Amino acid sequence: MTQPSRVAIVTGAARGIGEATARKLAADGLAVAVVDLDEGACANTVTEIHDAGGTALAVGADVSDPGQVTAAVERVAAELGPPTVLVNNAGVLRDNLLFKMTDDDWETVMAVHLRGAFLFSRAVQKHMVDAGWGRIVSLSSTSALGNRGQANYAAAKAGIQGFTKTLAIELGRFGITANSVAPGFIVTDMTAATAARMGVDFADFEKAATGQIPVGRAGRPEDVANTVSFLVSEGAGFVSGQVIYVAGGPRA
Ligand SMILES: NC(=O)c1ccc[n+]([C@@H]2O[C@H](COP(=O)([O-])OP(=O)(O)OC[C@H]3O[C@@H](n4cnc5c(N)ncnc54)[C@H](O)[C@@H]3O)[C@@H](O)[C@H]2O)c1
Repeated sequence: MTQPSRVAIVTGAARGIGEATARKLAADGLAVAVVDLDEGACANTVTEIHDAGGTALAVGADVSDPGQVTAAVERVAAELGPPTVLVNNAGVLRDNLLFKMTDDDWETVMAVHLRGAFLFSRAVQKHMVDAGWGRIVSLSSTSALGNRGQANYAAAKAGIQGFTKTLAIELGRFGITANSVAPGFIVTDMTAATAARMGVDFADFEKAATGQIPVGRAGRPEDVANTVSFLVSEGAGFVSGQVIYVAGGPRA
């Protein structure tokens, strides 16, 4: 179903899951603000959306910076209209075993995943409250269940789930839903970087991961994008505070 009047913000949308999600929401009929660290890096996603007949705007912002988040949301509201859909997708990895994890590894991951989701959700909610309608989807991960070398990332992704459930409780009365999508192994630059860090060839890495996945294949960014598309749709208005694992099985 097309939703021509809706404006969405997708963070970390220059590539990977964010890019696929921005393209899918644009195909669904939403105008999409493509947010990433470097505005120039958003050009590819924006061009793809325009070429497909959609509406998109490139916005450079660091999701962990309060001033940049405020400015980004104000710009989106001025140039596309009030945003009533938010996808908190921007993410980074700073993997290390606990005894080697630095303060910076910890702080960086918390800042991007948790502070970023908090800052964007807080900035956008007033537009949603004004509209009496809103959708917030935040990216968690199967790593929230625990994953070796990811104490920081697992804590942040578990935190996203608690954050989401609380937003659902606070904002439901304004017609706003909040949900979390928790992907398993998805083929992106992020998983490629993990293989490289472990010194494993990516094809071997993907094959090993696939062997553990009940549906017998690795995930693609579009698998996540399709789930986000459902959660932000009109028809998903009675689904809130949920975590949907998109992992080819009950968990990774
Ligand atoms: N790939 C997977 O297997 C997987 C699995 C579970 C969860 N996730 C989550 O899905 C999301 C997207 O992952 P991906 O695989 O597409 O990653 P990716 O590394 O391919 O893309 C992440 C994007 O976020 C942007 N970004 C990073 N820090 C930012 C900041 N401070 N401000 C704005 N943008 C920033 C990057 O520039 C990049 O474009 C992340 O939250 C990730 O943790 C991914």
